[in-house]
Amino acid sequence: MTLWRGRFAGESADELWTLSRSIQFDARLAPDDVAGSKAHVGGLERAGLLTTQEASVLMAALSRVEEELAGESFKFLPSDEDIHTAIERRVTELAGDVGPKLHAGRSRNDQVATDLRLFTKRALRDVVRRVVDLERTLYDRAKPAAAHGYYLPGYTHMQRAQPVMLAHHLLAHGWALARDVDRLLDCRHRLDVSPLGAGALAGSSLPLDPDATGEALGFLARFENSLDAVSDRDFVAEALFALALLGVHLSRMGEEIVLWTSSEFGFMRLDDAWATGSSMLPQKKNPDVAELARGKAGRLIGHLTGFLATLKGLPLSYNRDLQEDKEPLFDAVDQTIAVLAALNGLMATATFDDERMAAAADAADASAVDLAEWLVARGMAFRTAHSLVGSLVRDAAERRVPLAELVDAHPDLGPDALALLEPGAAVGRRTTPGGAGPRPVADQLKRFRDLLAKTEERLSRL
Ligand code: ARG
Repeated sequence: MTLWRGRFAGESADELWTLSRSIQFDARLAPDDVAGSKAHVGGLERAGLLTTQEASVLMAALSRVEEELAGESFKFLPSDEDIHTAIERRVTELAGDVGPKLHAGRSRNDQVATDLRLFTKRALRDVVRRVVDLERTLYDRAKPAAAHGYYLPGYTHMQRAQPVMLAHHLLAHGWALARDVDRLLDCRHRLDVSPLGAGALAGSSLPLDPDATGEALGFLARFENSLDAVSDRDFVAEALFALALLGVHLSRMGEEIVLWTSSEFGFMRLDDAWATGSSMLPQKKNPDVAELARGKAGRLIGHLTGFLATLKGLPLSYNRDLQEDKEPLFDAVDQTIAVLAALNGLMATATFDDERMAAAADAADASAVDLAEWLVARGMAFRTAHSLVGSLVRDAAERRVPLAELVDAHPDLGPDALALLEPGAAVGRRTTPGGAGPRPVADQLKRFRDLLAKTEERLSRL
């Protein structure tokens, strides 16, 4: 059954149908479509366009459809073009004469926009919950790592730079995730606007009340402009961006896990449940979860750029191009949740090799800047100190003597400065608030825990 055959004498071509059908993916909007229709029925009743009796027949039919959909007994027909058509067709079968009254004052244009906003609200909440789970895991790993005093080299340019507490490194990813949560919730707040009542593009002559239907659906506000309401997909683009950036963060974590689990680094070992083997090489233990986290980011970025290209150049108001909004959004949500869940399991169970990390971090020249700062604290200009220590490091490397020997013998440094070269000394001296040493990291852990608690509280209200 099509909803619009009245205008047409001939049948539509099969190829048009193949191109245009969206039921294969938009069936996912079914619960939202039923909710939207129930709100609309309430609106029609309040407008006096349905009697109480008619409204309750439609409501009962919609509830029945809801049950059939949930129990997977709903029978889709080849003629169902999209989920909106399918549900209206079934309601009409169930509700008899009243069925054809359902769509008064409504278009699939405001209907699909309403459904997709309801879906996105729920989906972003689900994604945020997963992000917070991963934040919590990072915190749970960081706290004992700080208590044990674990540290590793921090890198710039992928070269060892200065030792940092392992907790500091883990929380660096945690803070990026906290910004993702903010961004996703911000996007979710902005999209919380009901388009229902905008009709095809201009509203209706019927006495509908979009404020009331919007409120019934749990939206914070209704649309201000009907043209905008049916053509606005900013929320899809914003959600795709927030998911793509989250994907990029997870990809960067993934890359470090790949490095850290290599024999070359050996900082991290994966639990068997979160690693894979090789079909040929019996000795292999591969970090596929981390690699897929890295790989999926490409796909998420693709969804964003692809959809922006779809939007670019569309005139007002609804255009069928907009049907292309759903597949990238659904896929981005699904892929992100899959990555978050697996990465969370991996991070919760991996073990860290504190000896390998410390050995790598305590390379003799890791304290070079501490030697220079030691000289600065005793009145030397930093540039002079920098060049003095730099030449000692060069000397030590060229003459293959331990740096400690040269420091000991140097008139400006001497035995007092030697303590700076002791294992673990450098990381202990990072005292700047927000810095990588044990003292600021203890404070950072508290701040992160407080933010997490606030976020969890905020989530419990969604
Ligand atoms: N399947 C369509 C979509 O996803 C529903 C809206 C169709 N509207 C129309 N005027 N053909 O956008």
